[in-house]
Amino acid sequence: MAFDGDSLPRTVTQQRVVAVRHWTKSLFSFRLNRPRSFRFRAGEFVMLGLMDGDRPLLRAYSVASPTWHSELEFYSIKVPDGPLTSRLQAIEPNDPVLLGRKPTGTLVTDALKPGKRLFLLSTGTGIAPFASVVREPETYEKFEIIVLTHTCRYVADLDYGANLIRLLKDDPLIGDLAVDAVTYYPSVTRESFVRRGRITHLIESGRFFEELEIADFDGRQDRVMICGSMAMIADTRALLEKAGLSEGSNAAPGDYVVEKAFAE
Ligand code: A2P
Repeated sequence: MAFDGDSLPRTVTQQRVVAVRHWTKSLFSFRLNRPRSFRFRAGEFVMLGLMDGDRPLLRAYSVASPTWHSELEFYSIKVPDGPLTSRLQAIEPNDPVLLGRKPTGTLVTDALKPGKRLFLLSTGTGIAPFASVVREPETYEKFEIIVLTHTCRYVADLDYGANLIRLLKDDPLIGDLAVDAVTYYPSVTRESFVRRGRITHLIESGRFFEELEIADFDGRQDRVMICGSMAMIADTRALLEKAGLSEGSNAAPGDYVVEKAFAE
């Protein structure tokens, strides 16, 4: 069903679904047609949703695609009784989806001071903004080394990120750069896997630095972006503060920035 343009709130536009991919029974990604006027910075989020009767039902979603792409990609959980995702998970190509006009957010390289190493620390669907950041050419102009960590409860929950990393080397713009610059560091907490444990524990125990054969966090050269649950953010933030890093924002760039992974 499409909606009459006149009945749409002014803050949203209506876009068409281009493709949908279901990764697990509780995770899926989809791509929308990108309006010409839609501009964003890698790492930003936007309101997205469906009409609920005559009212829009919107939630914040990080854009997972890079800024140069002609489509907009998103990565979502499916909450069985979630007001939006219980319906959104059923979208198919050509269906209409509401898209906000004003992307925003703090997981942008503009909110970080210049540095050498960029650490992208994510849990669950918190990897979505980093799927944009690691495919963005500007990231490679600003940083020499990029480490993407992704921690999930179960191995299958890593699939979206693992696939992203697998395809990175074939990326037309940053493929060659990414092969040298990007290190992917997945871990799982609730079943067996080559690496088990929360990222906070892996960092605290030193295993993270040992396995990657890299030096400990150093505020002079390291910049960090964090995206996960409120608890994950709080614990990771505490670790970084202990290491002497300070939080940045769009108005005052710093050593690290945080954003909650959006969920219902
Ligand atoms: P755990 O299984 O030990 O709770 P969730 O789906 O609940 O957001 O969790 C996603 C991943 O984030 C899980 O692997 C979970 O580990 C981990 N996690 C949850 N809370 C924290 C925290 N406070 N710090 C670091 N990782 C966390």
